[in-house]
Amino acid sequence: MEKDREALIADIRRLKQERDAAIMAHYYTDGDIQDIADVVGDSLALARKARTLPNKVIVICGVHFMGETAKILCPDKTVLVPDTEAGCSLADSCPADEFEAFVKAHPGHTVVSYVNTSAAVKALTDVVVTSSNARQIVEALPADEKIIFGPDRNLGNYINSETGRDMLLWDGACHVHEQFSLQAIIDLKKQHPGARLLVHPECKKAVTLLADHVGSTASLLDYARQSDATEFIVATESGILHKMRQFCPGKSFIPAPPEEAGCACNNCSYMKLNTLAKLRDCLRDMSPAIEVDAEIARKAIRPIDRMLELSK
Ligand code: 13P
Ligand code: SF4
Repeated sequence: MEKDREALIADIRRLKQERDAAIMAHYYTDGDIQDIADVVGDSLALARKARTLPNKVIVICGVHFMGETAKILCPDKTVLVPDTEAGCSLADSCPADEFEAFVKAHPGHTVVSYVNTSAAVKALTDVVVTSSNARQIVEALPADEKIIFGPDRNLGNYINSETGRDMLLWDGACHVHEQFSLQAIIDLKKQHPGARLLVHPECKKAVTLLADHVGSTASLLDYARQSDATEFIVATESGILHKMRQFCPGKSFIPAPPEEAGCACNNCSYMKLNTLAKLRDCLRDMSPAIEVDAEIARKAIRPIDRMLELSK
């Protein structure tokens, strides 16, 4: 088994050189994928970095919208994904035709969309945000600007409460982040009174209210690295624990429990579709490659560029 894994890793390293490819991985992928990647980051870091890479080929080990964003930003590069089935329940909760009708029903609003959306939704958007820069970008808009925020109602609610805005929210959510159990977190905090609670803003409001720190995956990682505390309860997808444990060997990280006891609901099943075997195969076959309709890409690049500009 270990031999198979080593052979796969050797194949990936060789193919990466032959194809002039860079491997980018999100923090929610398995540790093996993060360890072989050239770049590991949150959604914002992956989008930012994609454009600056000199390679002809980029492999995005993440979910489909991350591949689309990289392709829109780097139209001349080949963007591969290990598995096209790696979608996102949050992006799926916002079909482009329904979002377009919602936007049309509320004229005069600036449309702010979370990066966890299809390219077609981004094409209907004025400015894209990620969990790293949503607050900063919303605060950069004039105070009296009417704003539609989609698709994550929890992130939207969090930004509304942090900024005092009254953004109109699309009613979408992530099936992983909505699962964390408030009661089980309260119980865990009692058992570990010194532990800090780290929460991604896609979690429900009651969970964010208990948090010592709310932030994107990169921000939760930074907090854990810099904090004097030695114990942390982590309310986000379990993949981030890999980097937390690597960067903070003397500290302990406890995954926050989901509502349903015994279920692995804090794993994003889409992210976990990225495996070493599929990564090797996509580099070998140069497929599946992400393509984005030219007209959609032309419209979607503007709000993505605006985000990168506003969050420099
Ligand atoms: P980040 O913006 O922290 O990378 O989160 C992306 C994501 O998919 C959260 O579920
Ligand atoms: Fe989408 Fe949720 Fe998975 Fe993030 S954790 S990629 S929001 S389904």
